[in-house]
Amino acid sequence: MNKVLVLDFGSQYTQLIARKVRELGVYSEIFPFDTPVSRLKKENPQALILSGGPRSVYEKGAPLASDAIFRLGVPVLGICYGVQLMAHLLGGKVVPSSHREYGFAHLDILARGGLLKGIKDRGQVWMSHGDLVEKPPPQFAVTGRTANTKVAVIESPGQRLFGVQFHPEVIHTRQGKAVLANFLFSLAGLKPDWSMKSFIERKVAEIRRSVGRGKVISGLSGGVDSLVTSLLVHRAIGKNLTCVFVDNGLLRKGQYEGLMEEFRRKLHIKVIGIDASDLFLRRLAGVISPERKRKIIGRAFIEIFEAEAHKIGRAEFLAQGTIYPDVIESAPVKGPSATIKSHHNVGGLPKGLRFRLVEPLRELFKDEVRALAAELGVDREFIAQHPFPGPGLAVRILGEVTLERIAILREADRILLEEVRKARLYHRLWQAFAVLLPVRSVGVMGDQRTYHQVVVLRLVQSVDGMTANWFPVESRVLSRISTRIVNEVQGVNRVVYDITTKPPATIEWE
Ligand code: XMP
Repeated sequence: MNKVLVLDFGSQYTQLIARKVRELGVYSEIFPFDTPVSRLKKENPQALILSGGPRSVYEKGAPLASDAIFRLGVPVLGICYGVQLMAHLLGGKVVPSSHREYGFAHLDILARGGLLKGIKDRGQVWMSHGDLVEKPPPQFAVTGRTANTKVAVIESPGQRLFGVQFHPEVIHTRQGKAVLANFLFSLAGLKPDWSMKSFIERKVAEIRRSVGRGKVISGLSGGVDSLVTSLLVHRAIGKNLTCVFVDNGLLRKGQYEGLMEEFRRKLHIKVIGIDASDLFLRRLAGVISPERKRKIIGRAFIEIFEAEAHKIGRAEFLAQGTIYPDVIESAPVKGPSATIKSHHNVGGLPKGLRFRLVEPLRELFKDEVRALAAELGVDREFIAQHPFPGPGLAVRILGEVTLERIAILREADRILLEEVRKARLYHRLWQAFAVLLPVRSVGVMGDQRTYHQVVVLRLVQSVDGMTANWFPVESRVLSRISTRIVNEVQGVNRVVYDITTKPPATIEWE
């Protein structure tokens, strides 16, 4: 199977490159920019793509790759910082531009061969850079330019090296996908041989190879990711897999029962259900810091899995439904991106973990996981459910997590979801949930003064959870949700609507 490696120089769009390549039917993975060339060679890629990045190639401490990557014998495409790096390492010249170029530009095509075959002249491209290539390296032809960027596309077909200053991976570059397709298919000569089916076969074989006759515990969270992970591991090793679903007392109403049912009746996989709500609540008592909550919850999960592993006897592997956004937003495991929050199944893992991890979905985005779930025969309704964070309602209860506050949030959340479904909004949204704030406000109910808690409604649309827009809900729907929550949930006298996008906010409040 063809494989394209994307070297990550820190751009917020790196993951989009890998994803667009996979959409074109070629398997793609991201590696940090400083991965040793010997390691890259081992991966046996058929092409390399160098991502964008926020730094300048000529500044001290800039992320540089070895120029040996250009001698691997595979075609290379540099994007934004990637093309500047190419120029910098191969004898061209990169300089600061007199003004940063951020936004739309029109691409003038100077030679419609290789990379720009079939691309419309003056088409819209997306630019985001402070430096530019002033002089391309020897043997490179300049084949595209924009009003502000004289060297916008460079090509050296003889060396099979290509570069673009614009971002073909973002939707604002109208024919970006066609540019990537030209690179992959015409220039690198690849075939679109990646599909969910082939992904399943590859992952199942990989799991078999790494686990052998070992036993695996799979931690279920109630969501699609851990379910799909379990199904893949089950395909690979059958009865040597034990699924454990921990009720941590921080689940939504009906979530525990729903998942147990899906596993037992429809998927015929054995699941051990464990009620550990007391343990989680005890550990969370008095804890306010979001990161501490996440770490405590991660730790408690692991302890329970370890105890189960002990009972089963020598289960040394732990399968987790970690997906790409968890990886990129937690510890900077692959590449130089910043830590946003510790997703409990990535950054929240305790040090000295005794398990070896099995994480077959690490490179995938949510919608890819959903496509995979469909391929594996998971119920459509289950697949379409909104993502739910591993630390559960704990990160939606700001301030201290207590039984009483969980009960309040659960009720408010149930009403919200009921109304969202009634208004036929559920499937148009990425997530819809309620958040409980750590403040009280004054109200008046039946001539009595109240001093109660505040519920926030968060309804967002997103493609992959990396960015999100708040959803403009009709006011009559908002009004019904608010009236019902205040009337039906004891202890809440105010409902507010969150109108922030991600970025600058995140989707969850903690
Ligand atoms: P944020 O809040 O970072 O969330 O914008 C992005 C997406 O990830 C989900 N999320 C998590 N999922 N473990 C998970 O499995 C976690 O710790 C976690 N934290 C956030 C969140 O619900 C959203 O869809």
